[in-house]
Amino acid sequence: MQQLITTPIYYVNDIPHIGHAYTTIIADMLKKHRYLQGDEVFFLTGTDEHGQKIEQSAKAKGKSPQSYTDEISAVFRSLWDFMGIRYDHFIRTTDDYHLESIACVFEQLCARGDVYLGEYEGDYCVSCESFFLNIDSGICPDCAGEKKLTKIKEESYFFALSRYQERLLEWYASSEDVILPKYRKNEVIRFVESGLQDLSISRTSFSWGVQLPAITTKSINGESKTPSKQHIAYVWLDALFNYVSALGFYNHGACISPAPESKASHTQDNLKGFWQHATHIVGKDILRFHAVYWPAFLMSLGLELPKHIYAHGWWMRDGQKMSKSLGNVIDPRAFAQSYGVENLRYYLLRETPFGQDGDFSQRGLIERINGELANDLGNLLNRVLGISEKYTALVIDAPHFARAHFAQECEQIAEILTGLGENMRTMQTKTYIESVWKLLHIGNTAIAKYEPWNLFKQGELAKLQSLLCLLANLLLKVAHALYPIMPETSQKITSAFTRQIAPESYAHFITQNAYDTHFTLHKVAPLFQKIDSLLIPESSVESTPKSTTPDSSTKDSGAKSTSTAPAIAGIASIGEEIGISDFAKLDIRVGEVLSAEPVPKSTKLLRLQIDIGEQQPRIVLSGIAEYYTPEQLIGTQVCMIANLKPAKIMGQYSYGMILASKDTESLSLVRIDGRRKNGSKVS
Ligand code: ME8
Ligand code: MG
Repeated sequence: MQQLITTPIYYVNDIPHIGHAYTTIIADMLKKHRYLQGDEVFFLTGTDEHGQKIEQSAKAKGKSPQSYTDEISAVFRSLWDFMGIRYDHFIRTTDDYHLESIACVFEQLCARGDVYLGEYEGDYCVSCESFFLNIDSGICPDCAGEKKLTKIKEESYFFALSRYQERLLEWYASSEDVILPKYRKNEVIRFVESGLQDLSISRTSFSWGVQLPAITTKSINGESKTPSKQHIAYVWLDALFNYVSALGFYNHGACISPAPESKASHTQDNLKGFWQHATHIVGKDILRFHAVYWPAFLMSLGLELPKHIYAHGWWMRDGQKMSKSLGNVIDPRAFAQSYGVENLRYYLLRETPFGQDGDFSQRGLIERINGELANDLGNLLNRVLGISEKYTALVIDAPHFARAHFAQECEQIAEILTGLGENMRTMQTKTYIESVWKLLHIGNTAIAKYEPWNLFKQGELAKLQSLLCLLANLLLKVAHALYPIMPETSQKITSAFTRQIAPESYAHFITQNAYDTHFTLHKVAPLFQKIDSLLIPESSVESTPKSTTPDSSTKDSGAKSTSTAPAIAGIASIGEEIGISDFAKLDIRVGEVLSAEPVPKSTKLLRLQIDIGEQQPRIVLSGIAEYYTPEQLIGTQVCMIANLKPAKIMGQYSYGMILASKDTESLSLVRIDGRRKNGSKVS
């Protein structure tokens, strides 16, 4: 079946934080699960680039909205690339085909008789781009961090949302899992039952948005009214329709150039089919827009409604919503770089039940890596490989294996596997992962119970083979079940058994709960490394700066640094001998210094922006201020270690280290002979 899975399109007023990564990871998890179940999945994400909030953010940075959105949208794309998130299409609401769709959608809504011209007078929250009436406090009731409402009075087109109240209620009642979790669905139902007001769908007091055609409509009292101003689409009308404009609805189609990762079968012609089975993943903050306005628009246009809307909770810090404007955000790139993308995915998906809020804790992340991942999972694989290597020469051959030999274990396994499908269907993702850990527990317990080393001593080789066969099947079941959560780890596990993960093997090991009796094993490197101490200093996590642009994410937050400045390389004596593979771990690149400026309160540090061919320049802090002036550096090429863990120095992050040589006299940068393309490797 063709399935569409979407993330929200994120605002480009600021760079992504862990909340955005979380939503996208959940969507990716579902995509992978559906893929294994044999569905053809189209994964859509993108950026929401219009509206007053973006216009204001760009202005505050002294940039034009378009160049600002170009910049931040690229940061989102590069984060997904970095995190191994493959999307089939990345939509930007400033894309031409989308502009075309929105103008056309507006005309069609008018043609349906659902739009009239009027005047909006009331409050508006620029932060969540919402209209509010009758809020005495003057503070947005929905936004974290006391956002002030703005009074507005302007000519506006209205959508007759109130006409859809009954149909919406019928829709919610039509299916159990159209909105999950159920308690969120109940909130939506209560909201709609309390009465819907018509919705303002255009703005006239600023210009950064999709220009709408001037259409004469009948006002509520039947008079024809023609607009006196240029209207632009309300940003939520503009944003919600991304889900269908990306599939070629209401535009001439020339728009879509599927991303390189796209399956060949995702051609322009068959994209619309994906809309028949759409699942939206959203945070609870934007459920109302998706569960009330969006289906009402679709009903008006006679389009299919989404099949599922799943709303997750918020990541918090110290009991407050993590949000860009509060400045308490966790940087997903830094955490993924330090702890690994897979481990971070695991932590986020395991830590809180879907739908509920969670408090992000670096210590909690480390505990889960050391305990659940390294001990329970990594060790089980190691032990199975070790036992087989020692006693069966890495070949498991158990032609007479029967589940009856391990009746208790096999019954438990069967029961757990049956529950997994239901867990995922109902978005009980935490329970799903816990169930996988019950499988691991069965494996770890079976080794202790059946003592393979004694079976070997007593010459019970067939029994030993059977035990290993049980364990191999169990680990393959674990790997397939875990693939949506930790795809790379799962592939490493299957590769240890010379197998691969695919929909067919998923059907075999999970859906049919089959057991194989022959395996050839390969030793693989330990799946996880234990972590002794925090890899990112807490001080820097706690006071992640109130950043507003990619480069300002490193601005001094005033926090005391617990880490030291990256050393400038200078070899005093020849150190320990290393192999070529050790050297190959260093990713050294040629980069051009785009800007250089002193770091306040430091006599040694310069803050450099270096282009190494990535979407955005790297920020590197380097202790060379006493030896080079900014002018001597700008425009020149340097060599930098590009895969060094980010470090916090004087309250700022540094994402790499440039190479230099220092003696008693002075310091010189390591430079290459002649110019090379930015980003070229040094090896
Ligand atoms: O609302 N915890 O964009 P946005 C968990 N452009 N998830 C979080 C989070 C947190 N603390 N903070 C943000 C918009 N998110 C609109 C969407 S869709 C047609 C238009 C995630 O950049 C969560 O998914 O404010 C939330 O719904 C989304 O980011 C909001 O992103
Ligand atoms: Mg938001």
